Amino acid sequence: MKKKKSLFYRFSAKRSFLETDLLSGFTDIHSHYLPGVDDGFQTKEDAINALDAMIDVGVKRVYLTPHVMADLPENYPDFLKERFLNFQQDAPKGVELRLAAEYMLDADFFKQKQAGLLPIGKNYILIEMSYMYPSPELINIIYDLQVTGFVPLLAHPERYLFMDEGQYKMLKEKGCKYQLNLMSLSRQYGERVFDTAWYLLQHGMYDFVGTDIHQLRVFLHNMTHLKLTTKEQDLLYNLIRQNERLW
Ligand SMILES: [Fe+2]
Repeated sequence: MKKKKSLFYRFSAKRSFLETDLLSGFTDIHSHYLPGVDDGFQTKEDAINALDAMIDVGVKRVYLTPHVMADLPENYPDFLKERFLNFQQDAPKGVELRLAAEYMLDADFFKQKQAGLLPIGKNYILIEMSYMYPSPELINIIYDLQVTGFVPLLAHPERYLFMDEGQYKMLKEKGCKYQLNLMSLSRQYGERVFDTAWYLLQHGMYDFVGTDIHQLRVFLHNMTHLKLTTKEQDLLYNLIRQNERLW
């Protein structure tokens, strides 16, 4: 799945992502700002500095989506809500924050579901799998979420390199929504993820988009080096606007 390289792509002028106004008014639906609860920002100060910088590039609303997985046994709703309320008191006022979560499809998922899932919007549940192998529970969990009134939203489908074109289509047909990681478009996760992300974007497979930010420096570096044609900016603009439906 190679990024299409048309004559238009090769010869049209490109602009750095951060020089466009694509993030102006952005609603981020995937981030790891909640400090000290996963592999994202570790201190309140770093998370606040990052939010300040993101406000400067136009971000207006952010879902904090800490990892929820068996390996992080404290990350249950009551604990995360308490940490979120505490963080919100000191967070910058120029951005609206909400708490959701990014759920690993592991042995603890149904325990988490019993404890109460933290949705994005009214009923979207951000899910992720191992990057190495498919989750044996994936189809069951997608079905279970749907029959209980939720919409499964798969985080960064481009990063699951075991998936092929047919599997991407099959999951979409089952009603699973797809969230693109912006940094996949700039090779942060390697060449194959880059090719897959551009393929899925150009084939209209994504429903929403997120930063999945863990460190400010990494995000800004990637977005500065991501150069986009006008056509690519339009593709991303249309996707970015979809996020507003989830606030
Ligand atoms: Fe994430």
